[in-house]
Amino acid sequence: MYIPVILGTARQGRQSEKAAQFMLQKAQEAGLESEIIDVRDYRLEATDNTEISQPAQRLAEKARHADGFIIVSPEYNHGYPGELKMLLDMLFSQYAHKPVGICGVSSGAWGGTRMVEQLRQVCLAFHMIPTGEAVHFPRVQELFDEAGLLKGRSQHGQAKRLLEELIWYARTLKAAREIPG
Ligand SMILES: Cc1cc2nc3c(=O)[nH]c(=O)nc-3n(C[C@H](O)[C@H](O)[C@H](O)COP(=O)(O)O)c2cc1C
Repeated sequence: MYIPVILGTARQGRQSEKAAQFMLQKAQEAGLESEIIDVRDYRLEATDNTEISQPAQRLAEKARHADGFIIVSPEYNHGYPGELKMLLDMLFSQYAHKPVGICGVSSGAWGGTRMVEQLRQVCLAFHMIPTGEAVHFPRVQELFDEAGLLKGRSQHGQAKRLLEELIWYARTLKAAREIPG
């Protein structure tokens, strides 16, 4: 199964990249085919969901093939970054009836919980199935060592639970999508 990790910020010096690498490794250890889809590689000047642009065509190919998604995003002013919304808005039908697990990153103590709640609502509009499980990376500037390795403990268990739920939905929904009619 192919479940890519969408990295939701293009900010210079972004800490969320370390969390995305951690989730990529966890996804691969769980037996998934995965890669990071970086918003930096899919930037548009303005919203366009006609699939005419080259970034949208590249994204559509990956999203069509995907059995689900992991999104790793920082919390910016209690919400999700604009470039993540623009990336998601490029497409629509390719997301439908596929699960999404959302991971929040913050310098504050809550690990992006407010962003996770808001992004779940957006994902429902795409007819995705957001998992109940989430992974939170609070105080991210202290959470990884200089080599980018996670020092925190709780994220291992959170990632395991998120991936178990995500894979269950991915299998179940894939079978359901293949039922004719
Ligand atoms: C525009 C902006 C808004 C932010 N808003 C919040 C916030 O609402 N809550 C929070 O805990 N951290 C906030 N932060 C700090 C980020 O959590 C911090 O930059 C962290 O490293 C994760 O984001 P990054 O991947 O861009 O590094 C904000 C940062 C920026 C650039």
